[in-house]
Amino acid sequence: MNRLIDLRSDTVSHPSPEMRKAMYEAELGDDYYRDDPTVHALEEKAAEALGTEAALLVLSGTMGNLAAVLTHTDRGDSVILDAACHIANNEAGHIATLGSVYPRTVQTGGGFMTPAQVEAAVFPHSVLHPNAKLLCLENTHNAAGGICLSPEKTQALADAANARGLKVHIDGARIFNAAVALGVPAADLVRPVDSITFCLTKGLACPVGSVLCGSRDFIETARHWRQAAGGGMRQAGIFAAAGVVALDSMVERLAEDHATAKRLAGHLAEAGLAIDPDAVQTNMVFVELPEGGPDPVRFVADLAGAGVRINPAKGRRLRFVTHYGIEAEDIDLAGRQIAEICKQAA
Ligand SMILES: Cc1ncc(COP(=O)(O)O)c(C=O)c1O
Repeated sequence: MNRLIDLRSDTVSHPSPEMRKAMYEAELGDDYYRDDPTVHALEEKAAEALGTEAALLVLSGTMGNLAAVLTHTDRGDSVILDAACHIANNEAGHIATLGSVYPRTVQTGGGFMTPAQVEAAVFPHSVLHPNAKLLCLENTHNAAGGICLSPEKTQALADAANARGLKVHIDGARIFNAAVALGVPAADLVRPVDSITFCLTKGLACPVGSVLCGSRDFIETARHWRQAAGGGMRQAGIFAAAGVVALDSMVERLAEDHATAKRLAGHLAEAGLAIDPDAVQTNMVFVELPEGGPDPVRFVADLAGAGVRINPAKGRRLRFVTHYGIEAEDIDLAGRQIAEICKQAA
């Protein structure tokens, strides 16, 4: 049997040999005492890449987003979010349950609000309403198709939020995918905002970790919330070392994942599914199985039987994610299996 082609998520990617070597050789300290030199090296590199004063290693994107929201808000405040974003749907409700913060969600359809939608979502100051404190954006937007928010749109949204006294946080789990796809430095995508989380464990292929970036004062307070969330660490340099290598060697490579995603979309289109490969912006491909077409549960099971794994369908919607370790020939093989399944179902 061929090797498994795992397109469930970019989180299934494994570290490169160079990253493993760096982890083995990492110089370590105790991060609680702030004397792990490899953690410092990663945080400095991350802050430089994002153009912020400071950065903080956290255990996950979820932890970074939580620490950011807790730092920007107080109990009872409201946070404006797209209704389909990761923070609102896939982080166990942490901002509400742990942060006592009210998620003010906005139905955007396409993932990104307009400045007018931001304005409309800000509660006026009144005894009746939660205080509006923060706007959260997601770039790339996962559920909306791995699509990118441009520097200009980010600026317009930040202006709308700032004009009403709100801070802005970006869940940039895949901010480097956006930067590579748009052909701009990641720093240009986050310049107008107050904080950013990015993940080391997705396209950058690290085993653990995300980084929260912002001003020096913001990061000091976030460090307190990281501790409260159980994210205080000791010899964290052991995995920060992979992050240092990833920031040097895995960012430009993301273009390959975008190319394989487009290639896969081409195969899906050839198999008769309704998809425009030119609409694929980064490493995610979403497609709806047509009504009366292949049964989604069966489709996913048959594909797994043929050695290609994806997550269970949401309704009739399937997601495929390309990443480090997935080559063009894997995509061609997956494409042949998909065409076969579609043919059988016709
Ligand atoms: C857009 C987005 N934000 C945040 C996260 C959370 O990252 P983690 O799994 O490291 O908590 C994910 C994970 O898939 C994500 O896709």
